[in-house]
Amino acid sequence: MTLSHSLFIIVLTLANIGGALWLLWWTRRSRGEASVTTETTGHVWDEDLRELNNPLPRWWLWLFIITVAFGGVYLALYPGLGSAKGTLGWSSATEHDAAARANAARIEQTLAPYAARDVVALSDDRAALNIGRNLFLNNCATCHGSDGGGAPGFPNLTDRDWLWGGEPDLVLATIANGRAGVMPGWGEALGARGVEDMLAYLYSLQGRDLAGDKRAGAVKYTELCSVCHGVDARGKPEMGTPNLTDGVWLHGGALTSVRDSITHGRTGTMPEHLSRLGETRVKLLAAYVLSLSKPEAPRAALADVAAGQ
Ligand code: HEC
Ligand code: HEC
Repeated sequence: MTLSHSLFIIVLTLANIGGALWLLWWTRRSRGEASVTTETTGHVWDEDLRELNNPLPRWWLWLFIITVAFGGVYLALYPGLGSAKGTLGWSSATEHDAAARANAARIEQTLAPYAARDVVALSDDRAALNIGRNLFLNNCATCHGSDGGGAPGFPNLTDRDWLWGGEPDLVLATIANGRAGVMPGWGEALGARGVEDMLAYLYSLQGRDLAGDKRAGAVKYTELCSVCHGVDARGKPEMGTPNLTDGVWLHGGALTSVRDSITHGRTGTMPEHLSRLGETRVKLLAAYVLSLSKPEAPRAALADVAAGQ
């Protein structure tokens, strides 16, 4: 607040209080007189309607006095007169900060018992999974879906088909540090015909027949693709490559989507979460993700929203 704005508010506030006091003084003149008078204000409406000039009721005067006194005390204690802070030093910002600190402390207390336990143990602990589920809904569901079922480009986390590996340590590393999957486009290298041959080869691995020459496709596969997707085309977790033989497609299962993947390439970025969420939350998330593809794991319940931030 600039000084002139502050002064303006101070003058405005004090003028209002002064005005209130003046009104009080003005109405007090009729004190001691009979409480009902025949004196009029002199105004006449509709020829014969007159306004009596009675003193204000006593209770109303007292209310007014109390209000003015309250205003004075309030302005001394709290911010109100321009940029003056008030003698209590209260501000909505410090009150908010204190509440936020108390809330953070409460959440840390809820998380503390899980800090020293490993992901495998946590994935069998229903209370831990409940917290993991809330964390998942707040941090991951926008991309992976609220049930972890994924969407084209965003992997399904409820199956056992992993890009980057399903070992507890690998899932933990994926969530903590993030991952970047990059598949270059092969449209130019293969040509339109070569892409159809490649599709014929890949679909033959699932026992399906397409029009292209799958033998020519297989040769190209070994030459261009096996380094990343593996000789058997089952994917390499260390490179984040999808298994191309199981009929589960990250970028959509329609033939046109698979053709697009080969022709133009694909990329996918899983953001890192360690810096924002800290170790314990990341562990709870990894435990929850692992439980999604483990039929025997306890199911997280909807209740218990503690520590879901
Ligand atoms: C901005 C979108 C986005 C958010 C938010 C996100 N992810 Fe991901 N996640 C991805 C993408 C995209 C991939 C696939 C990366 C790739 O293509 O290699 C992925 C991959 C993963 C994988 C590896 C899956 C596999 O098959 O190996 C796991 C596990 C995972 N995410 C868990 C999480 C968790 C837990 C959270 C929340 C803390 C989260 N993700 C938040 C986009 C996201
Ligand atoms: C440099 C490593 C690399 C090479 C070489 C490579 N790919 Fe990929 N490919 C990837 C990665 C990584 C992904 C996953 C992209 C993502 O994370 O979104 C992928 C994705 C795909 C997909 C989409 C899979 C799905 O589930 O939707 C297809 C299809 C595919 N590759 C086919 C091929 C073919 C055919 C070749 C050879 C012509 C090839 N790739 C060469 C790394 C590679």
